[in-house]
Amino acid sequence: MTFEARQAHGREFWDSRFSEAGYAYGEEPNDFLRSTCRQSAVGDALSLCEGEGRNAVYLARLGFRVTAVDFSEVGLAKARALAEKQGVAITTLVADLADFDLGNARWDLVVSIFAQPPSPVRQRLYRQLHQALRPQGRLVLESKVDVNATAADRYPGVRILCGEIAPLTISLAQEQERSLNEGNYHIGVQRTAQILACKS
Ligand SMILES: C[S@@+](CC[C@H](N)C(=O)[O-])C[C@H]1O[C@@H](n2cnc3c(N)ncnc32)[C@H](O)[C@@H]1O
Repeated sequence: MTFEARQAHGREFWDSRFSEAGYAYGEEPNDFLRSTCRQSAVGDALSLCEGEGRNAVYLARLGFRVTAVDFSEVGLAKARALAEKQGVAITTLVADLADFDLGNARWDLVVSIFAQPPSPVRQRLYRQLHQALRPQGRLVLESKVDVNATAADRYPGVRILCGEIAPLTISLAQEQERSLNEGNYHIGVQRTAQILACKS
């Protein structure tokens, strides 16, 4: 990764964004997560690149035991504050996903909502998903798409992402322009990939 790219997406960038007043992506969960997560039996959930906690807190309110991982301590401090405000408990883990181990048959649900690390980090992470999920465990994923992106880029399309999460069984995989209304930073029309997959 170039120095410029590291600056644009490194920990300092995210700490700075999450130091702003309010919640950068709002306090409400992502709507794709909201519409799909009830298909998962309540159990152990891992939220990758959780940021300020909106998705983790929502899952905890549904009864999931949630672990939220992110390399921004500033973001996760706000996640804990949001959990406290909503009267639920979440576990937060400050870790760089570049060397994070998802474990073995550890999760009933893994959530990857706008987790868009550099491609080597993403590919290493997604390769671990099948082993990390329990039988019938699910993946809920939404990410931005750049139509010209290759697998080496940060925002690939749904076809590339489905290949990277193999051998999970895909229940839903779609790519579309959609209107986002999430806090101050996800506003307006954005092309995204949405995937729901399962370990059968
Ligand atoms: C666009 S934000 C999304 C936050 C959250 N998932 C949401 O939808 O509200 C991207 C998040 O990825 C985290 N992140 C990026 N690269 C990471 C890495 N290598 N390890 C851990 N977290 C990372 C950032 O700190 C940030 O919280």
